[in-house]
Amino acid sequence: MSGDEPVSKDEPVSGDEPVSGDEPVSAGAWRAPGRANLMGEHTDYNEGLVLPFALQYGTTAIAARRDDGKLVLRSGQAPGEPVTVALDSLAPGSVTGWAAYPAGVAWALGEAGHEVPGAAIDIDSDLPEGAGLSSSAALESSVALALTELAGLAVARRELATIARRAENEFIGVPTGIMDQSASLLCEAGHALLLDCRTLEITQVPFDPAAAGAALLVVNTRAKHALTGGEYGRRRAECEEAARQLGVPSLGYLTNAGDADRLADPVLRRRARHVISDDARVRAVVNLLRSASPGPAVYREIGALLSRAHLSLRDDFEISWPEADVTVETAESAGALGARMIGGGFGGSVLALVPAEALPAVRAAITEAFRLRSWTAPGFLDAIPSASAARVA
Ligand code: GLA
Repeated sequence: MSGDEPVSKDEPVSGDEPVSGDEPVSAGAWRAPGRANLMGEHTDYNEGLVLPFALQYGTTAIAARRDDGKLVLRSGQAPGEPVTVALDSLAPGSVTGWAAYPAGVAWALGEAGHEVPGAAIDIDSDLPEGAGLSSSAALESSVALALTELAGLAVARRELATIARRAENEFIGVPTGIMDQSASLLCEAGHALLLDCRTLEITQVPFDPAAAGAALLVVNTRAKHALTGGEYGRRRAECEEAARQLGVPSLGYLTNAGDADRLADPVLRRRARHVISDDARVRAVVNLLRSASPGPAVYREIGALLSRAHLSLRDDFEISWPEADVTVETAESAGALGARMIGGGFGGSVLALVPAEALPAVRAAITEAFRLRSWTAPGFLDAIPSASAARVA
């Protein structure tokens, strides 16, 4: 899906279409987007549903083949000497810092049986790092595309997403789900990506808030988000324990939020209630977007679901943070249709759905709320549902 192949809209597509032909290229530039998630948080590793969309911001990998079996990695966000690693010496833990992401992708491609060449790779990104907008997945996806196309390999996008996730899980050591890499590699412009994380079936759902007079505002709360802190892994373990006690392979198998009440432990009960109810909210948003012509009334309902999801993330999953709560409350009082924290939690960004005419007031109110609390001024991004990764030069 380089953007050229026809893909049926609002129909399941497999994601198995090969990325590119089998002609190796000697050099090029590949860009992969970050994502915001409309609905379905911490549902991916529970084999539930997610509904992310790609941002127009992302990471570019400018890459050229090298014949010496080495990766020579530079990043515009980490000036200094390039990091040089030999492909045949790659193993989990062998590379640290930002270079572990591109190195991990090369390692995971090799583990999946795809032989890739050495390469000089220059990375640059306009995604704020640590903002919970999947800068890691964008980096992984841009490098995954670069290396496979330099090698002349035709690897399906869905497989590439799995490979990039494996880099993150096993090479970097962060137990994330499949959402972020899938969003970066499979989203389409003007659509949200409905991904069933159990079957990996994907459906492109038309998503055009602008046509209904609404805008998507991403607020970077500047509280840095990191998945390596342990809380993400703890939530994952709690969900697994809840599923075990409820007798299902994972919480995504449950559709009735009342099932959570069968859990004796109040913490596990809250965790399960979040996952089951967020999964239901994904289905509700998709149904709303599929209504004949989603207009302002539909977006008001989607906004209400966003706000409800925030309460669930704050009170049941307990992964929100003060800047996010203030952003959500302030956005709502200044005229937003709804808002919620997005991503792994404990820092990062809020997504607000805002009537276009209320955007300046919402931005000003959030900026003022942060100023009053002496917090670092928030960052604002206007989000437009955008296309997935592609070769750009
Ligand atoms: C991070 C992870 C994803 C997903 C979200 C929470 O972004 O990388 O796999 O679990 O958190 O929805």
